[in-house]
Amino acid sequence: MSDTLALSAQDLRAFGEAVTDLVASYYDSLAERPVLEHASAAALRAALAGPMPIEGTALPELLATVRDVILRYSRHNGHPRMFGYVASPGAPIAALGSMIEAALNANVTAWRSAPSATELEFVAIDWLKEMLGLSGKATGLFVSGGSMANFAGLAAARSAKAPDVVRRGVAASVRPLRLYASEEAHFSIRKAAGMLGLGEDAVRSVKTDNRLRMDPADLERLVRADLDAGYLPAAVVANLGTVATGAVDPIPEIAEIAHRYGLWFHIDAAYGGFAAVAPSCRHFFDGVGSADSIALDPHKWLYLPAGCGCVLYKDPATARAAFSQDAEYIRVIGRERSEAFAFWDYGPELSRPFRALNFWLLFQFAGARRLGEAVEQNIVCARYFEQLVKESNDFEMLAPVELSIFCFRYAPKNFAGHLDALNERILGIVQRGGSSYLSNARISGRFALRGCVLNYRTTERDMEILLDDVRRAAAEALA
Ligand SMILES: Cc1ncc(COP(=O)(O)O)c(C=O)c1O
Repeated sequence: MSDTLALSAQDLRAFGEAVTDLVASYYDSLAERPVLEHASAAALRAALAGPMPIEGTALPELLATVRDVILRYSRHNGHPRMFGYVASPGAPIAALGSMIEAALNANVTAWRSAPSATELEFVAIDWLKEMLGLSGKATGLFVSGGSMANFAGLAAARSAKAPDVVRRGVAASVRPLRLYASEEAHFSIRKAAGMLGLGEDAVRSVKTDNRLRMDPADLERLVRADLDAGYLPAAVVANLGTVATGAVDPIPEIAEIAHRYGLWFHIDAAYGGFAAVAPSCRHFFDGVGSADSIALDPHKWLYLPAGCGCVLYKDPATARAAFSQDAEYIRVIGRERSEAFAFWDYGPELSRPFRALNFWLLFQFAGARRLGEAVEQNIVCARYFEQLVKESNDFEMLAPVELSIFCFRYAPKNFAGHLDALNERILGIVQRGGSSYLSNARISGRFALRGCVLNYRTTERDMEILLDDVRRAAAEALA
C-alpha cells in the first residue's frame, strides 16, 4: 500500500475503478430510488458523527459509508421526477470532468497561473456570447452561481452610476441609488443591494401583469417618482425566467426605458438563459444583446453540477472599474498584454476553480444541438403537464407555463375547505412519498404546488406519474 496522500498509480487505478463502479450503479439506480428517503437529522448525525480520525481508514470502508449513508440519504437531484426548486441533475460527463479538474487543481486566478484554463474560459465565454447574441467586445467569467453573478452585475452597475463609491464608500454618492426589479425577482437581487451597501430597501418592486411579467409602465412611473424625490435611479433588473413561474419580462421595452433614463440594464437569466439553445424560445431573447450585464447559470439549465454560474458584461471597462485591484504580490512582471490578464479584475473572487472544464467537456461531448433538444424536451414536458391539469376536473393551473416551470394546485369542485392548507398538506405527502418531488410558490396570494423540469431524463410518462402521485396524496390529505 502506497502513501495515503500521494497514492500510487496502481492504487489510484484500483480505487478509481471502485468509485466509477459506485457512480455508474448510482446513475443506473436513480429512477428506482425514492427522490428523497427520509432520515431524521438525529439519525443522520448518529450515522456520520465520530471522533476526528487520528489514523486513516481503508477506502472500501469509506465507500460503504458513502453508499449506505451519504448517497442513500441525499435528495437525488438527478431523479427524473425531481421537480423541486431549480435543481440541475448534473451530468455524468461532468462527474468524470470533476475528477480531472481535481487532479489538475488549477487555480484560475489569472493567465499566468492557469494558461490553458484561462484560454478555455475565454472560449466558453465566447460560446455564451454567441448563444445570447452579444457583441464581440463583451466579456465575462464563471462565478459560483446566480446569486454571485447578480451581485457582480450590480456591483458593476453601482460603480458605473456612482464611480466614487468603489473607493470612498456609499457616503460618497451625492444621491441615494435606487434599483428596480419586478415583484417576482429572485431574493439574490435584494441581497446584493444589501451587500453593496445600497440597502435592500433601495430595490423598488415593479408591478407585474397577469402573466407575472414586469409592467414597463409601472417601472417608468417608479423611476420618475424617484427622480422627483431626489434619488438616483441606477439600474433595472429584468427576469429572463423568474424563479417562481418562469415568467420572462418584456426585455425590449425595459431596455428602451433603461436607455431613456440612463439606467444600467441587468438581466437575471440564471434559470432561463439556456432556453436560448431551444428553437421554440428564441423570441424571448430579443433585446438581450443590449443588456449591460447578464447572470446565467450553467449549473441550472445546462445540467452542470452545482458551483458554476456566469456573469457577462457588455463593456469590459465597467467590470474593471468595479473590481480591478493592484498589489505588489499580484503584479504581473514581463508579460505581454494578453498574458497579463487576471480574472480578479472582473469579479469578486481571487482563487477560482477550473469551472470552464466541465462546461467545455459537456458542450463538446454533447454538442449544442443535443443540448437544445434536451432543453426543448423539458419545455414539452412542462406544457404536457399543463395540458393534463387543464383536462382534469380536480386540478387547476395558477400560472401559465412560459419555460419549464409549472404551478398548479388541487382544487376539486365543491371543496368547501381552505385550499392553501389542503395543498400544503398535499406537498408534504408528495415529498415524503418519494416517487415525485415538488416545491412550492405563492402566486397572487395563493399557495401553489410548483415544479421545474430541468432534467434530460424526464419524459412525458414522468409527468403522468407526477399527476397520479399528487392525486393519491390529495386523497390521503382528505381522508
Ligand atoms: C432567477 C434566479 N436568479 C438567481 C438565482 C440564484 O442562483 P444560485 O442559486 O445559483 O445562487 C436563482 C436560483 O434559483 C434563480 O432562479
